[in-house]
Amino acid sequence: MQSDSFLPYALQSINEADIQEVGYALRSSIVTRGPFVDAFEQAMAQYCNVTYAVAFNSGTAALFAACHAAKMGPHDRLITSPNTFVATATAGMRLGATPIFVDIDRSTGNMDLNQMEDALNGINASRGQTAIMPVHFSGIPVDMQKLNVSIRNPDTIIIEDAAHAIGSCYQDGQKVGSCAWSDMTMFSFHPAKTITMGEGGMVTTNDPELYHRLKRYRNNGIEREPAYLEAPLEQCYDGYYEVVEMAGNYNVTEFQAALGLSQLRRIDDFISKRRELMSAYRRYLAGMPDLKLFTAQFDADTAFHLCVVQIDFTAYNTTRNQVIAKLKSFGIGSQVHYIPLYKHPLFQKQCGDISAYFPNMEAYYAQALSLPLYPGLTDADVKRVVDTLKEILVAERAKKRHGRQKASR
Ligand SMILES: Cc1ncc(COP(=O)(O)O)c(C=O)c1O
Repeated sequence: MQSDSFLPYALQSINEADIQEVGYALRSSIVTRGPFVDAFEQAMAQYCNVTYAVAFNSGTAALFAACHAAKMGPHDRLITSPNTFVATATAGMRLGATPIFVDIDRSTGNMDLNQMEDALNGINASRGQTAIMPVHFSGIPVDMQKLNVSIRNPDTIIIEDAAHAIGSCYQDGQKVGSCAWSDMTMFSFHPAKTITMGEGGMVTTNDPELYHRLKRYRNNGIEREPAYLEAPLEQCYDGYYEVVEMAGNYNVTEFQAALGLSQLRRIDDFISKRRELMSAYRRYLAGMPDLKLFTAQFDADTAFHLCVVQIDFTAYNTTRNQVIAKLKSFGIGSQVHYIPLYKHPLFQKQCGDISAYFPNMEAYYAQALSLPLYPGLTDADVKRVVDTLKEILVAERAKKRHGRQKASR
């Protein structure tokens, strides 16, 4: 086993064109909330084939804004997957909404839509609204048409967490972010994601009212549009504004937007490189016992963010901790996506141990490991990762077997 350069599980790709655009933004007289932000939003709206896009300074802020725009509050329910980053749930919880987790489908890592339907129709709601926040885990798109059709109450809000899925398409060919089957879609541009702004996020929507509320939330609840002002028009001077709600400053700088815009120009290359790498993983891992990848059924529609394998560590007489440590010692980074949200103290303090309700999530979590996936990887790097993983697992199994033989002598 060679241990050349370290391969992290994720890595941004920044080239000279990106750096040039950022430099151009920094040399201009406006360094925040300017034309680069407008251009990036327009480019994203065009890319997703959606009417509006609003940029935020993180994906987390974008989710907060979406829940705020949806007017979520106490008595509301937020139905989501436990296989996600904490911000998916806390975006609604901080407004008082109660999270309801739905077990996952192990073949995709996504929320199981049949179980979601049961959860949705089992809700006997006398007050409050329901928000569904599907997460397109690792980039594999949730069947949004099926999700949408299963909803009986027309007031149900759908906010897609597409932090992993920029560039993925639904089964009907429409882009994630088009909001064809949802009210809003959120993206993250954290460096591990398919395109980056350093830190950043976006919400897309086709609804002008939601668009208006998203923009107002981004800028401390400040209202400037004449149609929404309380003061009579004749009292409003140039630059007059009213603060109408408590929000915060979630604005994006020009140099972040310049990076986002430049990265968006490279997205097709990023996606095809990630697809090639995933098919290399499929090829090199094929036939390996006690190890599974997600279904290949959606590969053509998926812009892959993560390469998750499910390994039966017990069958190899080892533990995930040991495998992670061994991979690291051979210069290979890995991660676990995700610790089920309900296992974190934040949630356990409120609802105790509810793991028995999520057999698929539990089984998935026991076996999940994310291997390196980013545009800078080569086919040879993927082979090195797979060969190293195989050697570690086979050696672990042999070591334990040998130990048992010695003990029985
Ligand atoms: C599924 C999911 N939702 C939300 C977020 C939050 O995005 P950000 O890190 O840009 O705040 C992330 C990012 O890690 C994520 O993976």
